[in-house]
Amino acid sequence: MIELNFSNMMDEIIGRSGLSESTIKDFNKTAENAHAKIKKRLRPELAFLDLLYQDTPEIKNIAKYIRENTENFLLLGIGGSALGPRAILEAISPFHNLQRKPRVFIYDNVDPRTLKNILSFADLKTTSVNVISKSGSTAETAASFMILWDEMKKVLGGEAFRRFIITTDPEKGNLRRIVNEHCLMSLSIPPGVVGRYSVLSPVGLLLAEVIGTDSNELLKGARDMHEKCTEPDLLKNPAYLFGTLLYLMDKEKKRNIDVLVPYADSLKPLSEWFCQIWAESLGKEDKGLTPYPSLGTTDQHSQLQLWMEGPEDKVLIFIRVRDYGSDIKIPGVFKEVEGLSYLSGHTLSELIMAEEEATELALAKAKRPNMTIIVPEINAYHLGQLFHFFELSTAFTGFLYEINPFNQPGVEEGKSLTYGMMGKKGYEEKRKEVEAQRAKRDRWVI
Ligand code: PA5
Repeated sequence: MIELNFSNMMDEIIGRSGLSESTIKDFNKTAENAHAKIKKRLRPELAFLDLLYQDTPEIKNIAKYIRENTENFLLLGIGGSALGPRAILEAISPFHNLQRKPRVFIYDNVDPRTLKNILSFADLKTTSVNVISKSGSTAETAASFMILWDEMKKVLGGEAFRRFIITTDPEKGNLRRIVNEHCLMSLSIPPGVVGRYSVLSPVGLLLAEVIGTDSNELLKGARDMHEKCTEPDLLKNPAYLFGTLLYLMDKEKKRNIDVLVPYADSLKPLSEWFCQIWAESLGKEDKGLTPYPSLGTTDQHSQLQLWMEGPEDKVLIFIRVRDYGSDIKIPGVFKEVEGLSYLSGHTLSELIMAEEEATELALAKAKRPNMTIIVPEINAYHLGQLFHFFELSTAFTGFLYEINPFNQPGVEEGKSLTYGMMGKKGYEEKRKEVEAQRAKRDRWVI
């Protein structure tokens, strides 16, 4: 099981910058209210909890078809429809495209240069395309889908219809309509599940199966984590405790920037996934915690100075990996150079673990709060635990802030203005607004 070591958040270790055990215990009453909201399923979006018990044969069958019939798997989606799949791909199968097929391409933007590159590397004759959009109306995904639809038909003719797998709402939206009209393969994202809580739905599970990972392992990990997080008592519930510590750091110590620092290259996309769920779920009504993704040891040579001596507004969250699954010994070369020879005989995993421990300690000595999530090994089972841990923490923390952790009203205005500019029906007023603003937009340019 993954563990949460929060010693360096406590006043006994870091003095006045830390929290006392009694503060945490006294918070149990508030935590119980948030817990009750989850238990009573106060909001329909808590349906992400049901994903843990889903059946996977349909996902497995489609993945088998993709593996057996195609050499490239192109995923089109954005936000919650792409960050989770990418976190799975990188954590479980780093350097995937250099060693295994189908090669995987995740296109989660509308940068024309990127798509041109993908189209030049992936022969469409042997490509399957997974279009993921819960709403079926996201402009970025719609645009790339339309391009691929056209290109695939040019290359494959009628066969193209058998190469699209659409992951969307079971009943509603443009994509479901297209699925029905063209009899395309499809998978459903359950109605209540919103994008950033959907990694353990077919959104992430299909990709897992395509790269040869048993999706049931991800689900088993998530279920075991859920079992560990059923009690409202904070000291018995790591997901709630994680949210509570960060909430209290914000409220009591004015520390509202949460930096996630995995000490593993393959977990960097996981920290980007975390940043989305934390930011989009909690940042509203003038409240929220600002996450930023980082990487150990790399950022020790980039950000650590700021964490140690910069403004006292951050909490560091490390991810320590106990077993990297492989190791490399540093050889006994340059014996005569004392400044290098001390490394000989040690391994890279010893070095990375020493650096992580040293950074924790250095920060604690500087009275900078930090905590550590300990992952026994990077595999599907523990990844499932991490996903569920963060999802549950986020929903819980949203309830602590008394906001809705499942909507994103602040994203809508930008979308509507884009629709106006792109000529979508019903958004004519938005277009006029943009045009009126354009004169002012260029007033101060040097
Ligand atoms: O978390 C969310 O709901 C968003 O980030 C969505 O995932 C993102 O906007 C993409 O939406 P959709 O899946 O509807 O295309």
